[in-house]
Amino acid sequence: MRFPFAVDAATPLYLAPMAGVSESPFRQLCHEHGADVVVTEFLSAEGIRRENEATLHKLAFGPGERPIGVQIFGAEPDAMADAARFVSDVFQPEFIDINFGCPVKKVVRRNGGSGCLRDLDLVERVIRAVSAATTLPVTCKIRSGWNEEMRDPVTIALRCQDAGARVLALHPRTRTQMYSGSARWEEIAAVVEALDIPVLGNGDIKTAEDAIRMHEQTRCAGIMIARGSYGQPWIFNQVKDLLAGRPKRPAPPVEERFAVALDHARLVMAYETDPRGAAIEFRKHLGWYSRGLHGSADLRKRLYAVTSFGEVEGIFADYLANAEKYRDLGDAGGELDADDASDPKAAA
Ligand SMILES: Cc1cc2nc3c(=O)[nH]c(=O)nc-3n(C[C@H](O)[C@H](O)[C@H](O)COP(=O)(O)O)c2cc1C
Repeated sequence: MRFPFAVDAATPLYLAPMAGVSESPFRQLCHEHGADVVVTEFLSAEGIRRENEATLHKLAFGPGERPIGVQIFGAEPDAMADAARFVSDVFQPEFIDINFGCPVKKVVRRNGGSGCLRDLDLVERVIRAVSAATTLPVTCKIRSGWNEEMRDPVTIALRCQDAGARVLALHPRTRTQMYSGSARWEEIAAVVEALDIPVLGNGDIKTAEDAIRMHEQTRCAGIMIARGSYGQPWIFNQVKDLLAGRPKRPAPPVEERFAVALDHARLVMAYETDPRGAAIEFRKHLGWYSRGLHGSADLRKRLYAVTSFGEVEGIFADYLANAEKYRDLGDAGGELDADDASDPKAAA
């Protein structure tokens, strides 16, 4: 299946758009670990149009992040067109992605994100307006519908294709489901069957094996991973191994894992202007990188209190020097779910 921009993979692996996570440093890191395509977090069309400073900071990206898509949201076709024009003229990403999936109240209240899914005429108008305002390919990310009654991913996807979408990503949950229940991969298969454009499968990929299962069950043209990349950007290279028929490379040992976390931290330091705020914001990633390690509860407690990146290096060095002690603490790690992302900042 041909993608509307140059991408060097038969089945491209996408880092999903994630507010507060798929920021420039993490996008670079994921590219280094095998992601073929990355997408910015969702950015408000109004914020772009008004050249809001914080929005433009989130919009900036470096050459190491290409191919990249900039994701925009909004329910005003004119504002969306203006935003697309500005992004195309000033930033020239490989594509512009429209968010029709965000379930957050603040966004859907104004019909943004998945709010648009209640009105498919509006979805079409938005896509047409954006497509007319840019020469870049326009892609869409949708959920399966607003609620169970309106659940109809194939119709929504076909409307997006008819209006000009060149790639479509489906997260097969409804807005009202938020993140509960399971992603219905059979809906991805149905959309793949119905559309002529490349379809990206998204939802509930936690391991490289999950990605392969999704690919086999749905025949999706590309695979999009969000939460499964938390603390393990190497998941992309692992999926690549399995797609190529090679044994999966093992997850890195603890020293290497810390080295990746520190690489990530260095990228953050180069990007953010407030070192203390950046370190506090980074705590969630530190929690994810320490998931499943011996004594991870104790380790996490220390990492959640850092206010500088220097402290992180010290804590990692101490952990490695006292590996025996941590082994005795056992594996208190277990799974850390997405909601834990908000915990570490609360300690600030
Ligand atoms: C913290 C977080 C932020 C997200 N932000 C966005 C966003 O800005 N735009 C978007 O289209 N989806 C966003 N999503 C949804 C993901 O892209 C993805 O569709 C969803 O998490 C399901 O994929 P997963 O099971 O691989 O996590 C976000 C998800 C999470 C967990």
